[in-house]
Amino acid sequence: MKIDLIAGARPNFVKIAAILHAIKNSDKKFDYRLIHTGQHYDHNMSGSFFSDLNIPLPDITLESGSGTQARQTASIMTGYEDLVSKKRPDLCLVVGDVNSSMACAITAKKSNIKVAHVEAGIRSGDLSMPEEINRILIDSISDYFFTTSRKATDFLLNTGKSKEQVFFVGNTMIDTLRRFEADFKKPEVWDTLNLKNTQYLVLTLHRPNNVDEVSNLVKILHIIGDNSRGLPIIFPVHPRTAKILNSQKLSLKNVFFTAPLSYLEFNYLVKNSKMVITDSGGITEETTVLGIPCITLRNSTERPETVSIGTNELIGTDSENIPEYLDKLFEARWKTGGIPELWDGKSGIRILEELSRL
Ligand code: UD1
Repeated sequence: MKIDLIAGARPNFVKIAAILHAIKNSDKKFDYRLIHTGQHYDHNMSGSFFSDLNIPLPDITLESGSGTQARQTASIMTGYEDLVSKKRPDLCLVVGDVNSSMACAITAKKSNIKVAHVEAGIRSGDLSMPEEINRILIDSISDYFFTTSRKATDFLLNTGKSKEQVFFVGNTMIDTLRRFEADFKKPEVWDTLNLKNTQYLVLTLHRPNNVDEVSNLVKILHIIGDNSRGLPIIFPVHPRTAKILNSQKLSLKNVFFTAPLSYLEFNYLVKNSKMVITDSGGITEETTVLGIPCITLRNSTERPETVSIGTNELIGTDSENIPEYLDKLFEARWKTGGIPELWDGKSGIRILEELSRL
């Protein structure tokens, strides 16, 4: 069976790495090509992940780049359609919920190519997020579903998918975290700011809800900086957020900006931090497994187990909610978390076992 493995944006590289490492270590032969859609293209959003995660360079890069939702999606679709019209795979495997995953899934399905979705069946219920629309679209047309939780599996079965199509395999993002945990490396900012274990916070923000309105974004930064009890807050700034902040003259207490960090550097920072504040989904899974307290600045999450089992608290997008949770942290009232079922570093192997039976 010929398989197209699709990756386009930062979180995709982390998930696809788990599958590539499982292929490398498998006795069986898998005939695949790795396709990079080009959605993320800066070195620190893309290239650094290939070297950090020790994965082969893409066999094909589509260079779709950025643009509006529609332009980016269209560019990935036409690029991938040209490719499959010349050389068809038997299966197109997409991971996660980014535009690249959705665009390639739809293109493959319309070319009568079977589609497999890794991280299927999770829902936030929030249709204002492009990722939620992507999840619904991908799951509605996929043939095979690999899930990170029993809840996601049950959801898919309840929507009419059959047991022969849905496989609860665990979390590929955690495979990669476990594989590289011993290799996490100090970012430059560690020495520049003389950081100490558990004596700083990490912040990431890139969702339109939090960053597109500049006054709202600046208010979040002020509130965190004013309530961190003097601890520095390290903020690796996503390009989307950087574009918005670049036009601002800011005078912030305790908040330090860096460029986006590589995978190994970012997770070094997370693993040794006192807390992470984020609006990402994947990061809440990593903090859960690393046992680091996490605040999510969103109204909903498609990863509820990070709250019910893990260390995450979902506090909404009103930044006035933040101080109450920082007090909880500093007064040592943060819940201790556990690790969700099958988040054990072997999801890639389970995916390959199922693929080899198809
Ligand atoms: C995308 C994903 C999101 C994921 C995030 C991780 C979708 C809908 N969203 O959001 O789920 O959490 O990636 O990073 O697919 N840009 C650069 N350099 C790059 C990449 C992007 O400057 O290497 C700029 C783009 O020009 C654009 C902005 O960043 O202005 C947003 O990029 P885009 O890929 O459209 O979405 P993200 O916000 O990164």
